[in-house]
Amino acid sequence: MKDRLEELASQALQRIADAETTADLEQVDKTILGRKGELACLMRGIGSLPAEERKPFGRLVNERKEAIEAALGARREAFDAVRQQARLQDSRYDPTEPGLAVPTGHLHPITRVRREVEEIFLGLGFDVVDGPEVETEEFNFDLLNIPAHHPARDNQDTFWLESGHVLRTHTSPVQLRAMRARGGQPPLRVIAPGRVFRNEQPDRTHEAIFHQVEGLMVDRGITVADMKGVLALFLSRLFGGDVEVRLRPHYFPFVEPGFELDMRPAGSPPEAEWLEALGCGMVHPDVLAAGGFDPDQVTGWAFGMGLDRVAMMRHGIDDLRWMLGGDLRFLQQF
Ligand code: PHE
Repeated sequence: MKDRLEELASQALQRIADAETTADLEQVDKTILGRKGELACLMRGIGSLPAEERKPFGRLVNERKEAIEAALGARREAFDAVRQQARLQDSRYDPTEPGLAVPTGHLHPITRVRREVEEIFLGLGFDVVDGPEVETEEFNFDLLNIPAHHPARDNQDTFWLESGHVLRTHTSPVQLRAMRARGGQPPLRVIAPGRVFRNEQPDRTHEAIFHQVEGLMVDRGITVADMKGVLALFLSRLFGGDVEVRLRPHYFPFVEPGFELDMRPAGSPPEAEWLEALGCGMVHPDVLAAGGFDPDQVTGWAFGMGLDRVAMMRHGIDDLRWMLGGDLRFLQQF
């Protein structure tokens, strides 16, 4: 059996040395080393040897096997090197040619506007906070003084979940969450940007998903003048030029008094048009109380502004539906 082993091993090594292709090597691998190969066959006969010879024979088989494996490995590498060399010498292959550029994206125009708004308010000492997109009816409506019969609660306007939660219809519920997180201790200065949802039939100016930023400032002795001053400064920075603002009375249940704020470039002629920018007002005492503040001690102002429209104005985009449409031909323009 030992002779047979040596014969097999030297045959195998010879075949490896003579191999002309990797297929020849695979053939040796299979017929000699394989599970049904010659070596395995030989090992199965080990039982016919006298007991004291079995162990040394087994060891010898392993040694020969390892030698064959090593020779196979070396020849495979040699074949690989030859192939690689051929590839490099192939005139159609130019290893100095630049690689394929990996396409990179960029921030969405709305994300850029949001980040600018955050930077401006961070610079004014505000914190940026967050709230859930799936809200309770209580936070989205009740605690904001929006009565049970208010049309905004209608499922025409609001996405109701089967659990009784809503997809928040505005960022104003974050006012309450921020106030409560502050534990009724003034001062509080926060903004809360994020996605909001309304059950709208999409058109050029309406979408079911859009973006707002909420702002809230609460402290002792805060007045409408503080609100007007901060918002004029904010809008001047956002639009990159001094703006003047005017307040028009407007009803929002969670502020009193409430306003719509219009803006136009500072120094415009009197007849120049005003652009409606945002909703704002002095936080209603009930809302302050619901947030854990004492309305006899503190006052506050709040605003809510759409972010999508800012991005649209900036880039001359005329249809809101492009914004979340995901069309790369649109997005790549910015
Ligand atoms: N939440 C209001 C809206 O979505 C905006 C607003 C916020 C108005 C804060 C006043 C104060 O229209």
